[in-house]
Amino acid sequence: MCGIVGYTGKKQATPILMDGLERLEYRGYDSSGIAVSGGGAIEIVKVKGRLSELGKLTGGTRPAGTTGIGHTRWATHGKPSNENAHPHYSRDKKFAVVHNGIIENYLELREFLAERGFTFRSETDTEIVSLLLEYYYDGDVLDAIVKMSRKVKGSYALGILYADEADVFYAMRKDSPLVIGLGEGENFIASDIPAILPYTRKFIFPEEGEIAIVTPDGVTVCNGNKERVEKTVVVSELDAKAAEKDGYPHFMLKEIYEQPGALRKTVYERIKSEGIRLDGIRFDGKSVRKIYIAACGSAYHAGAVGKYFIEKYARLEVETLLASEFRYCDPLVDENCLTVIISQSGETADSLAALREAKRRKSRVLAIVNVVDSSIAREADDILYTRAGPEIAVATTKGYTTQLAVLYLLGLKLGHDRGTIAEAEYNTLVRELTEVPALLEKFIDDVNEQTQQLAGKYYPATDAYFIGRGYDWSAALEGALKLKEISYIHAEAYAAGELKHGTISLIEKNSLVIGIAADPALTEKTLSNIKEVKTRGATVIGVTNRPDLLRAECNDLIVLPKTHDALTPIFTATALQLFAYYVAASRGGDIDKPRNLAKSVTVE
Ligand code: M6R
Repeated sequence: MCGIVGYTGKKQATPILMDGLERLEYRGYDSSGIAVSGGGAIEIVKVKGRLSELGKLTGGTRPAGTTGIGHTRWATHGKPSNENAHPHYSRDKKFAVVHNGIIENYLELREFLAERGFTFRSETDTEIVSLLLEYYYDGDVLDAIVKMSRKVKGSYALGILYADEADVFYAMRKDSPLVIGLGEGENFIASDIPAILPYTRKFIFPEEGEIAIVTPDGVTVCNGNKERVEKTVVVSELDAKAAEKDGYPHFMLKEIYEQPGALRKTVYERIKSEGIRLDGIRFDGKSVRKIYIAACGSAYHAGAVGKYFIEKYARLEVETLLASEFRYCDPLVDENCLTVIISQSGETADSLAALREAKRRKSRVLAIVNVVDSSIAREADDILYTRAGPEIAVATTKGYTTQLAVLYLLGLKLGHDRGTIAEAEYNTLVRELTEVPALLEKFIDDVNEQTQQLAGKYYPATDAYFIGRGYDWSAALEGALKLKEISYIHAEAYAAGELKHGTISLIEKNSLVIGIAADPALTEKTLSNIKEVKTRGATVIGVTNRPDLLRAECNDLIVLPKTHDALTPIFTATALQLFAYYVAASRGGDIDKPRNLAKSVTVE
């Protein structure tokens, strides 16, 4: 949610801020703005709408000055509007603030400030921060920031300008992502690394509650007591190109095509001659009594696959919970459990909260995360990184399939260590897992045009029902989410056997049903469900590796390659990603930035 960026150096700030915001726009895109300081004043330009609207106002050059902060917003408090767009001035316009996160006690603070004569220009929680800074300022900006931070509750990554201090800005974080980029005679902040990767590869990661004073010549980091803290500089290995479209019309399509490569990176280095080696885990699989998986959205769907896989091969009970429920459902998590948090961004607020809840209950926490050094990665006891590289499209693709790959590796490793998987089956699965990238490469090439044609036929649909059993049901969940989030077609996933318990009443002539039947043990069962909807007039797209069985009952078929049944969700999901992509393209949606969504959900 929301992206923030900051620059101070010898160059004009506006073009750099605009460039950084463009790379951060996927985090929120209902309004944007920049503030640049110079000559004892701060000039703000901000506007409702996409970044292109801001570009029209700034002309790429205005305001002039070499120090500034910028913001792209996903509204929480206050509708998208010019007034609610960031940055926010203090009353005297000496401070300007950009913020990612939520100030939870903002109503109380609004009252506090109102009682002291402050009035408000916006409906946002962020304005509270700039007004508090003015209220507490007594000649020392750092002191004002410390006092402000003691007053506010919630999550924040902040960029702060003070008009009377040329060539400096301040930054602070708590429960929201923030990186500091170090350049030569210039320094930066951003919500994530790719935003400023074209300018620097050297980064500092501030910890919770730390404050950075950023000048062109250096960065000083202090703790909440204003004591200086030494920070390690990390050199990023990410390729700046990884965050560019590289000739593809959308990041989503590029990222779909990147999946074979991402899976190679995720899997290959972890398979050694002696078997699977997971350096990120330091616990004994034999001592785990139960696994809880907590995640949101697609990561939760990956967890649904993980449950079936780990239970089958490691013979360990696995409960997959939505992270947003985990902390409120009083789970029976204790020191004998392993809690697995799955997250592409590593910043999802609910997943982070689930992690903390699990730790509070003494569970060991393993994070399956893509973004290196993200909050979830930093707070977990053990980390298994998915190596998908930067994922920019809001709809996750390679993020999801690499999560599946890590869960397969984990399940196999646990099964092997616990002696619950037969050697032959282990070897077969390991071999088939290593074959997935090449198979997927070919599959994407084979199915790309077909999914485009199917999309051309089915894009006017108003509803779509995805059905399947077992692994196919998990893949159905992901397929439905992909379609709904980017095409805005109402899409639901059902365990095929559940249809008859209510949902089948919605099926009528021409209802679109995507029947997934890739698990050989369940194909015939799902086929009966396909027949049931067909009899009631549905149009069915079958997704299967048994075209011989399904052809007669389906209007169209997507044929999956032959692979181990447990690995089929990777192929099913990829076909459904492409289908959703082309449907959305036919409907003319903004594929990489679908309405109302944001990439990284850092609020509850
Ligand atoms: O970054 P995370 O993996 O924690 O994100 C979880 C969900 O917000 C995410 O998967 C979301 O559902 C995507 N839009 C799905 O495409």
